Order: sequence, then structure tokens, then C-alpha cells
Amino acid sequence: MIGTRKRLTFSGIAVLADPMGNTVLLHLLCGVLAVLSVSLVNADDPYRYYTWTVTYGTVKLLDVPQQVILINGQFPGPRLDVVTNDNIILNLINKLDQPFLLTWNGIKQRKNSWQDGVLGTNCPIPPNSNYTYKFQTKDQIGSFTYFPSTQLHRAAGGYGAINVYERPKIPIPFPVPDGDFTLLTGDWFKTSHKTLQAFLDSGRTLPFPDGVLINGQTYSTFSGDQGKTYMFRISNVGLSTSLNFRIQGHKMKLVEVEGSHTVQNIYDSLDVHVGQSVAVLVTLNQAPKDYYIVASTRFNTKNLMATAVLHYSNSHTPVSGPLPAAPSYGFHESMVQARTYKWNLTASAARPNPQGSYHYGKITPTKTIVLANSAPLINGKQRYAVNRVSYINPDTPLKLADYFGIPGVFSVDSIQSSPSGGAAFLSTSVMSANLHDFLEVVFQNDENTMQSWHLDGYDFWVIGYGDDKWTPAKRSTYNLEDALTRHTVQVYPKSWSAIYVSLDNQGMWNMRSAIWERQYLGQQFYLRVWTQVHSFANEYDIPSNALRCGKAIGIHS
Ligand SMILES: *[C@@H]1O[C@H](CO)[C@@H](O)[C@H](O)[C@H]1NC(C)=O
Ligand SMILES: *[C@@H]1O[C@H](CO)[C@@H](O)[C@H](O)[C@H]1NC(C)=O
Repeated sequence: MIGTRKRLTFSGIAVLADPMGNTVLLHLLCGVLAVLSVSLVNADDPYRYYTWTVTYGTVKLLDVPQQVILINGQFPGPRLDVVTNDNIILNLINKLDQPFLLTWNGIKQRKNSWQDGVLGTNCPIPPNSNYTYKFQTKDQIGSFTYFPSTQLHRAAGGYGAINVYERPKIPIPFPVPDGDFTLLTGDWFKTSHKTLQAFLDSGRTLPFPDGVLINGQTYSTFSGDQGKTYMFRISNVGLSTSLNFRIQGHKMKLVEVEGSHTVQNIYDSLDVHVGQSVAVLVTLNQAPKDYYIVASTRFNTKNLMATAVLHYSNSHTPVSGPLPAAPSYGFHESMVQARTYKWNLTASAARPNPQGSYHYGKITPTKTIVLANSAPLINGKQRYAVNRVSYINPDTPLKLADYFGIPGVFSVDSIQSSPSGGAAFLSTSVMSANLHDFLEVVFQNDENTMQSWHLDGYDFWVIGYGDDKWTPAKRSTYNLEDALTRHTVQVYPKSWSAIYVSLDNQGMWNMRSAIWERQYLGQQFYLRVWTQVHSFANEYDIPSNALRCGKAIGIHS
């Protein structure tokens, strides 16, 4: 449908059999253009129109039929195949019995946190109602995802892939693959999202997942021709578990991580943590037969997996032999692998200037922030916190409160920029930062569990991983030359990870645990990137169709 590249496609379960789920509504073009705010649009860039309807449906995923969230009848949801700088006009119709939002994981929403689709920026779409998202995939190329951000909807599906292709003018640093497979893989629970949410609300934690799915299935087939090279875009869309990905008898060449073109190292297996995406090239250079693809839970004694098949089109031999073995190594070796992910300094980015021309390592940070996660009991219930604050969602989105000057919604003083002693407490915490600040952020994990941290609105340089406690002396271990940028970074147990982030995107941005029960129970806050200068060059105006809720009901711009 888009571009000229020949693409092999793989579709998930089309439960209500609507193969054209992401219908392109070209006839709406004139009408919608008229209502768009001029500040958003770049008339040179193409528009793509979608209407997505969210419903419940019943599918059998792990032995038992269960209720899932479908988009246009599909699970996973329709894939968004777009091009750098496309304008996306997506009308989302909520037919669930609960308010709903989608967030666009890794899409930077430049100047446009209005469209981020989290409760701090958007009112949830009420049942039997709709909201039209308007955003641009500005200056991005790569593999991203979307998923529901409200309640515990993500445990019921509703997720999908966003593949952003390069514009014809911009070369990618590898030959155009002969085909392109998208693999949304993640842990899965048989228990319904409402029951899981009730567990969390009552102070319990989530159980261990029941299985792993690849594109909504435990067994699927990807076909290609012997001698050709295919891209596999692998995202961890699960709730809680790191995964390891591997293909029997084949090497994987890493080419892209969440929009960064990497040094093209070869791997036998890759760890993909919750919320992360990677793209690898695989050449079908083996004897013509079928080979196992495995995604399995990592760092757990209980080993869950999904298998799929890599089928050579000239193969008459089904899969055989042992499954490719999981790495026997642990956290330390996973951290060593993570350090081998590097930016290809000579490769072009989505923008026509070379990535390496930006010397992030030579910039002195304006501020250092240390964020420590914890798992406190508050009022007798399990919560999760960062720097003692366990976040609670207000009825009014922070972004609307900020814009309309509604008092009493959030507090910019409750969260400190480094850990301190004392009991954890509940608050709607916002950290303020100045537009164009350059931050060093250290994620300090004193807990014994894997962490995965995500920041909306940005990608950031992952400059270091280390054991134990971070101290300023650890800066000598930073990669200040060719660290890659990404939107989600893992933090190993009793370890730290450090990032640099250039705050060039004004807005209200969610910093959260990608591990969903932690996010749900408070391990998140918002970063308010702000300047006194009021200019649409820095941030777009409120969308004309912005929904109202909480204290913003009845307020007009
Ligand atoms: C709901 O959809 C209609 C088109 O069917 C559109 O005109 C309207 O703007 C949408 N509502 C919102 C809040 O975006
Ligand atoms: C970096 O990208 C260039 C293309 O711009 C490519 O030729 C080169 O092989 C890549 N380098 C590595 C180490 O992957």
C-alpha cells in the first residue's frame, strides 16, 4: 500500500475478518484539512487517514477462549506502515465499556504532547465516543509500537506495530531487505484485564504470565526465499518479562534499535526488554528446510516460550531438531550484550544531516537526576514508587490543567531529583525542566528485579550500564562516543543505567516503568519541559477537538 518496496506481510488473527482494517479514507481529505490547526501541518508532507474501532472479542490464544481488545476486528491491531514525516489522522472509536486511550510508543510527538495518548496529556475517550489523533512521524525511521495506556487494557491486547519507512531521498545504511516481518512478542495472561486490575487495586501483584505470544499466536510461520535477506522487527509488547529471541541455524545482524541505526553486529540471540524494539537482518543462507524461531522469557526459572517457523519457500522439510538453546548466561552477560549496541556514526538518520555530527559526549549536562525505584507498601497495599513518590492519576490531564491554569491538579515539588530517605507517599508528581536543558539521568535499581524505563517525547543516549550503586566516579565508564539513542532502557537488578537526554521537545512527557503493573501502581511521573517564551514554534496550540474531563469540563480555549 505504501512505497514501492516489495514487502512480505504477516497478518495476525483477523477475528472479524476485516483484512483492510486500517482503511484509508481519502474522501475525507478536504474536510479534515479544513479543521486542522495550521500549526500542526506541513503541507508538503503526505496525509494518511485511518478509522479504528476498538471492541472486545473472544479468541483462543492459550488453550482457552478469552476476551481480548480488538482494533477493527484484529488482534494484534492493524499495523501502521508509514513514512518519515507523514501526517497521521486517526479517528479512534471506543466501543468498550470503559474509557480508552492509545499511546504511540517511541513516536516523538514533536511540539505535540497533546497527542501522546496518556492520562497526563489526554482525557480518556469515553465509551461509544471517539477522538481523532493528529500527529506526524517527524524525522523518524524505524520500528515502534502502539498500545492502550488506560486501566490494564494492555493485558488484553489492543497493541500493534508502527513501522516508519525512510523517504526516498534518505538512504538507509544497509541494502533494502527483500522482505519485512513484524513480530510483536510478549508475555500473556489467561486472566482477564479486569481481574488482573482488581488484583492490583486490592494490593496484590500480578501472577507469573501463562505464556508468550508472537503476533497473537503461539505458533506462526514466516516464509522467504533461499538466498534472500529479510528484516525482522521484534518488539516486546508484554507486561512484565524480558524476552530472548533467536532463530535456529541463523545469525541476526542488528541494524536498528528504536529509530537508531546501529553498528551492524552479528548475534545468535538478542535480549529484548519490556517496551523495547529492535530490527535485525536475517539472510536465508542455510539448507532449504524449515527452522525454529523462539521467543522465551529471560532471567526466570519458569521458562515460557512461543515458537514460530522460518519457512524456506523451496523447503519440503518441516522443522526438526532441538529448539535453539536459550543463553545460559545471566544478567551480567546481558549487560555486556547491551553495551555492544552502538550508534553507526557514519549512517544517515531520518534527517539529512549525519547523526555523528551531533557530539552528545562533549556537552556538559545542565543537571543530573537520579531516579530510584522502590516497591513500598502504602496504606497496607503494594505500590511502586520513584524517589519515594508513587504516582496517582488525576481526573484532569496535567496538560489541560497547565494550559487552562487549573489549580490543585498536580504538584511540581513532590518529587525530588535524587533519592532521599523517608517513607513513600502518593502524589501526582511532575518534575520541571527547562526547554533545551541537557540532562544526565541515572536509573538506580536497588531492587532485585529487572526494570525497564521509558520516556515519551524523546529518544535518549544510553551512555552506561553498571553494577551496584551509581556514583559520579562511574562517569569514567560512560560511552561518550557512539552510544545509541532509544526510548526505553533496561536496568538490571541491583544495578544502574545512565542516559543523556537533550530536552528539545516542549511538553508534558510521561517518564514511566514499561513494566505495566509498576506503571499502574505508581512507578511513573511527568517531566514538564517548559520555557517562559510562548511560541507555536516551540509547542503547538491545544487541538480544536481536545476532549474535556475532570476540572476541564466546560472550559473553552
Ligand atoms: C469524532 O469523529 C468525527 C468524524 O466522524 C470527527 O468529526 C470528530 O472530530 C471526532 N471527535 C473528536 C473529539 O476528535
Ligand atoms: C555504517 O553505515 C554505513 C552506511 O552509511 C555502512 O556502510 C557501514 O557498514 C556501517 N558500519 C557499521 C560498522 O555497521
